[in-house]
Amino acid sequence: MVEAIHAVRGMNDILPTQTGAWRQLETAFSDCLSQYGYREIRFPLIEKTQLFKRSIGEITDIVEKEMYTFTDLNGDSLTLRPEGTAVCLRACLQHNLLREQQQKLWYSGPMFRHERPQQGRYRQFHQFGVEALGIEGAAIELELIAICQRLWRILRIDEHVNLQINNLGSLNERNNYKDQLVAYFKEHFEQLDEQSKHRLQHNPLRILDSKNPGVQELLQHAPKLFDFLSKENKQSFTALCEGLEKMAIPYEINPYLVRGLDYYGHTVFEWITGKLGSQAAVCAGGRYDKLVEQLGGKPTPAVGFALGIERLLLLTEGSGGLQEVEVPEIYIIASEGKAAEHAVLLAELLRNTNPQWSIITSTAGGSFKSQFKKADKSGARLALVLGEAELDEESVGIKDLRKTEQQITLPKAALIAYLQDYFSR
Ligand code: HAM
Repeated sequence: MVEAIHAVRGMNDILPTQTGAWRQLETAFSDCLSQYGYREIRFPLIEKTQLFKRSIGEITDIVEKEMYTFTDLNGDSLTLRPEGTAVCLRACLQHNLLREQQQKLWYSGPMFRHERPQQGRYRQFHQFGVEALGIEGAAIELELIAICQRLWRILRIDEHVNLQINNLGSLNERNNYKDQLVAYFKEHFEQLDEQSKHRLQHNPLRILDSKNPGVQELLQHAPKLFDFLSKENKQSFTALCEGLEKMAIPYEINPYLVRGLDYYGHTVFEWITGKLGSQAAVCAGGRYDKLVEQLGGKPTPAVGFALGIERLLLLTEGSGGLQEVEVPEIYIIASEGKAAEHAVLLAELLRNTNPQWSIITSTAGGSFKSQFKKADKSGARLALVLGEAELDEESVGIKDLRKTEQQITLPKAALIAYLQDYFSR
């Protein structure tokens, strides 16, 4: 026997029983973003490697060890996109979208990171992302957080996610802070784990993110980033906090929230859940005011977030916010041959007059008993039956699959009116 070929580890098929929930989530997301006047943008899955190195940062987990990078037949180094923000900006710059200054955009699709797969962490995963470009101040940050909150409510998971916020200050403020932090950790070098020692040399702020209890203990007495912020920055952060309070969105200030991508400055935030073990971040984002310049554009303030669709779906399981499987309204059962052809024509007629109905036509024949079983399993509410007798009489059998009542027979001409009345009940 030939050995079967399986999907790449950490890359999942999304099966017919799951796509209903995915589609509902996609619709909820795009409808919600339309309410706020954000427009969709789509961009390629593959970009030049340099784009991610320059934006995410050379000394980050993503760029150092998680990118799917390859050389194509022209000898160019290309990378499967590990995130959307850099790509979104590249597209905006390339097509001059920032000439109009402000852009409110969203995107969705697969991202690729070579991480260790486990529940909620995959090598191909999917994000919804939102980017607001050309807008300063706390108001737009509030709007983005309000979008998230509205989505959580629609999906009925608002009780399972908590908002954490922090302010990373300007580049200058961060650099001053980094010097002090490095000096502090050098004094305690021997107490650091290997990862923190590496970070101390290359990206010291990431030590704040350490999960090591010994390092966390050390952090308690380390200098605090907030003390290095300018007056204006503190004021802007206070405005964000006050806005959140006015919108009744609970939040926690987490001074150790630093994010794994280098482009952030000023406000950063994450929505965390306690229900997915170590994969706690459901949604994350913040300001990245320097990135447009870094990618060759004019100075442009920018802020955004992305949420992990798989994590969100795990959270919605059992919340009742999404229906797991899409079910048809009508299942047409027909005997083989002529009746099956009539069934296809009848289904077309019904779809023409009532496009909202989902209709499955059984064209594979088989006994009525087995077809009824399949109809029942499909979840449809009604079965229409076309046998030889019905063909001769130009009639249709109708059976309510969710009730015990007997099957009835109607003249074909009366069918549409009957169905419209039935489905309006
Ligand atoms: P990120 O924090 O790297 O940010 O990813 C955002 C979200 O994607 C995470 O909170 C998580 O839910 C999901 N995610 C990340 N990695 C995985 C994975 N391996 N498996 C499953 N889900 C995952 C960004 O990507 C930024 N571009 C967000 C942003 C947009 N900032 C500003 N605008």
